[in-house]
Amino acid sequence: MPSFRPITLVTGASSGIGAALARVFAAHGHELVLAARSEEPLVALADEIAASGAPRPHVIAIDLSRLDSGARLGHELATRALEPSVVVNNAGFGLAGAAHELDRVEQLAMVDLNARAVTDLSLRWIESLQRHRGGLLNVASVAGFLPAPGMAVYYATKAYVLSFTEALHVELKPLGVRVTALCPGPVRTGFQGRAGLKDIQFPRLLEQSVEAVAKAGYEGLAAGKRLVVPGFANKMVTLLPRLLPRSVVLSLADARGRRRRDGAAPAWLRPR
Ligand SMILES: NC(=O)c1ccc[n+]([C@@H]2O[C@H](COP(=O)([O-])OP(=O)(O)OC[C@H]3O[C@@H](n4cnc5c(N)ncnc54)[C@H](OP(=O)(O)O)[C@@H]3O)[C@@H](O)[C@H]2O)c1
Repeated sequence: MPSFRPITLVTGASSGIGAALARVFAAHGHELVLAARSEEPLVALADEIAASGAPRPHVIAIDLSRLDSGARLGHELATRALEPSVVVNNAGFGLAGAAHELDRVEQLAMVDLNARAVTDLSLRWIESLQRHRGGLLNVASVAGFLPAPGMAVYYATKAYVLSFTEALHVELKPLGVRVTALCPGPVRTGFQGRAGLKDIQFPRLLEQSVEAVAKAGYEGLAAGKRLVVPGFANKMVTLLPRLLPRSVVLSLADARGRRRRDGAAPAWLRPR
């Protein structure tokens, strides 16, 4: 059998948190495979990383919401004699609005990307992750801790990623594979525009930069943490749904969702 070179696969690396994660892993000496649909920004990021003196990342333009995407990605890696030692499942998107009013097919594509592809790419290379004593970093969200009217399907997909990843953390620990769920709070990226959250104002206590989130994710995985919630205030936010009755959490999430859609945050939360 030919010897395959270990790489770190980063999905959704063409922008936002994924691009920042790619930069952090590259800075720590990882050879990368960058995957997303848009080839141009992936190539630009690969150029930038190569120019910094790191190994030139491989670029794979692929729609991960397609049901055959895992098999295709596997084929693309195999033809380059590469295999993952680390998988970073970051690609994802959200849609704001009532689930019964949003496009059903688009919401199913969100489930296929945010949940199905994450499951596929988490399980597809376990033997390789084990052999290289590598790891799995799945980007969930603070959204994974609560249900949210107005973004019902997105929050549900992130609850799935969080639950799945925490369980995998325990299952794969005896195999020497680190598994971490990264749960950012609000981060200004292409996410908001794609979700239809225009001109949104984030609570200044909660907002984090892509760089801070990526660093926390990398360090959490390296330390073998089960869960990483970047920022003290975001950690507090994840505690509330575990302490309050579900009906209260739903009412609070509904009120926040309405404010988010109307673009009006209470004064104490408004950015300076
Ligand atoms: N921003 C936040 O406030 C926030 C908070 C918590 C968690 N998150 C999570 O963080 C992750 C990254 O989001 P982001 O904030 O960095 O948003 P972003 O800037 O919009 O990045 C999303 C990435 O996913 C890729 N992607 C989208 N659809 C895809 C598809 N069908 N196939 C392959 N790649 C696809 C995009 O690339 P292409 O469009 O080129 O395919 C892009 O690289 C997501 O999982 C999101 O849920 C974000």
